[in-house]
Amino acid sequence: MRIIAIIGARPQFIKHFPFEKACEGRIDLKTIHTGQHYDENMSAVFFEQLGMKKPDYMLNIGSDSHGAQTAKMMIEIEEILVQEKPDGIVVYGDTNSTLAGALVASKIHIPIFHIEAGLRSYNKQMPEEINRILTDHISSCLFTPSNIATKNLNDEGLTQNVYEVGDIMKDLISYIKNKGLVKEINDKDYYYATIHRPYNTDEKSRLKYVLEALNKLNRRVIFPIHPRTKNNMGAFKLNIEDYPNIDFIAPQSYINNLSYLINSKGLITDSGGMQKEAYWVEKRCVTIRTETEWLETLIGGNNFLLFHDLSGMNDKLNESGLNWNDELYGNGESSKVIVDKILNF
Ligand code: UD1
Repeated sequence: MRIIAIIGARPQFIKHFPFEKACEGRIDLKTIHTGQHYDENMSAVFFEQLGMKKPDYMLNIGSDSHGAQTAKMMIEIEEILVQEKPDGIVVYGDTNSTLAGALVASKIHIPIFHIEAGLRSYNKQMPEEINRILTDHISSCLFTPSNIATKNLNDEGLTQNVYEVGDIMKDLISYIKNKGLVKEINDKDYYYATIHRPYNTDEKSRLKYVLEALNKLNRRVIFPIHPRTKNNMGAFKLNIEDYPNIDFIAPQSYINNLSYLINSKGLITDSGGMQKEAYWVEKRCVTIRTETEWLETLIGGNNFLLFHDLSGMNDKLNESGLNWNDELYGNGESSKVIVDKILNF
């Protein structure tokens, strides 16, 4: 069986690794990298550090408005799929690269396997929410990480070829831990923070408020800064020297990022994936959003949503007495099950 996977943004490189491994000797896998993320430390570093195969096609689309970026991806993906005629495509998650691949494949009748299907934030202001809904509805086979995701699909009338397989990102965490690749950090008295969503970074007053809130925390904050956040800080003339409690560092490789998280006293984020990763490594998380698609992490207060008023962040990060469910989002072997299901399809 010949499958083409379409990736393009940082979280997809991470999800692709376990799938690529699970395909070895079972599925003939090729990869298209759209180039949505292109900086060395947003892209190449993941392939190098994890020892992933170089993409078979590198499209170098780069940044643009949503419409232009997605359209450029579609034009090039279509040419490749018409020529390659794969038995199916795999797309991950909810980025513009996901939607571009799925739209093209659906029009030329190539089966679509959507990994991380069924997530909903019910916030249609998020481009990711539109990307998820559309991709789910044109996919041939939907792999969900949880009960709630499966139910979301069923509620929208999607009941055929829906498989609850757990979360593929958990496969990678298990792999890194089992291989003993997590790095030790001596001074552990810090919080780790990642902020990049448009609603936290695209307006000066909001970005300033978030940075000020981090700057006031009772521990120092290590903050790998996403290009969107960095660009906007520059455009708004927000200077790193004005936030002495925050250590701004470059975006980190997968293993470094995980190591920073594991050694920390807690996470502050607006990322989707990092909320789950914090849960799996048993770190309290404060999510700077009004909603999350990862609802299960909120049960028991392990993850906590704060948005308009961030003054409670310190207290939330320091609450004790949490319980963690080892089984949340599967057992770390979902990629193998996904490959079984694709072969049976
Ligand atoms: C994208 C995904 C988001 C995911 C995030 C992870 C969509 C709609 N959003 O958001 O779901 O959580 O990736 O990082 O697909 N830039 C660079 N270098 C890079 C990449 C981006 O400088 O390598 C800058 C560009 O100025 C670009 C901006 O960052 O305009 C935003 O990048 P983009 O890929 O459009 O969206 P993200 O915010 O990264």
